[in-house]
Amino acid sequence: MFSDNQIFAAPLAGISDKPFRRVIRQFSPNAPLVTEMISCHSLVGAHKNCLRNFDDYSSEGNVGAQIFGADVELMADAARILENQGAKWIDINMGCPVPKVATRAGAGAHLMRDHKLAEKIMYAVVRAVKIPVSIKTRLGWDDEHKDWKDLVNIAADCGIKFATLHGRTRAQLYLGNAVWPDVHNIAIPIIANGDIKSSDVLEQIQGLGYWGAMIGRGLLGRPWLLAEILGEKLDLNVTDVVLQHLHYAIEYYGERTAIPMFRKHAAWYSAGMPNSADFRIRVNRIDNADALIVAIRDFWGIMGAK
Ligand SMILES: Cc1cc2nc3c(=O)[nH]c(=O)nc-3n(C[C@H](O)[C@H](O)[C@H](O)COP(=O)(O)O)c2cc1C
Repeated sequence: MFSDNQIFAAPLAGISDKPFRRVIRQFSPNAPLVTEMISCHSLVGAHKNCLRNFDDYSSEGNVGAQIFGADVELMADAARILENQGAKWIDINMGCPVPKVATRAGAGAHLMRDHKLAEKIMYAVVRAVKIPVSIKTRLGWDDEHKDWKDLVNIAADCGIKFATLHGRTRAQLYLGNAVWPDVHNIAIPIIANGDIKSSDVLEQIQGLGYWGAMIGRGLLGRPWLLAEILGEKLDLNVTDVVLQHLHYAIEYYGERTAIPMFRKHAAWYSAGMPNSADFRIRVNRIDNADALIVAIRDFWGIMGAK
């Protein structure tokens, strides 16, 4: 079976920020957690409106900082900055399909089409830092170009330590089921990603030769999932988890920004529970911490949830 340093939390833009990572960390002290993607331009330019540019990772445990971009020098500079900020490893985004990143910026999934540029970036980033560097990619651009093995071989030659493989193509976006190809005989360890939400599939994934598994959307509203999947006994008090998460978000963003940002988390935490639609409507109208705390206490109190 996988151990607690082999089940990763995926980078999720707008979600896996420092407050969310803090909550996951309480349940999973050793789990590798990846930050949301960080633009090399924004980071190197020290853009003030992007708080994550200034995150200090030194007390966050095993955290990988994910960068995206298409500029070789800036990607290397960004990696250096994140190493100085205490990241334990650097992950290069080579799978993001959104047009802003993959088409207009020539970054993310675009690097699956331009292996020469991908190689230059990987080569430069690996040499810019002392910490390990990984990549996160997809099966390929589309059904006709499932050439992930080529990219991973180039990565291995550049000194990349491991790769995460999301079992979809860029063209699929998030549609259809993820497929985890056999990764025996690949030069570097591969982490399986895509649609993993329970321990049921871990044996299959391990049997296919993967070194680990990475979980993204399964963590929404369930930051304890990495620990649960490993079979750990959880003394779960959901009300406390939600309130703790809210507290961390306010501490990090300030109340004005945190409250609207927290609405989606409140919705995920309550998903599938009776009256969750009413709760969401109530939460969407709230604009201050005190009222949100009352709504959270009311909802889980009424549910009788611990
Ligand atoms: C809202 C959202 C944001 C994402 N942000 C990132 C990101 O910043 N970097 C990245 O490499 N992948 C990102 N992804 C992709 C996930 O990391 C992951 O590869 C994908 O969701 C499949 O895994 P899952 O089925 O466990 O969610 C994002 C996905 C979603 C749904």
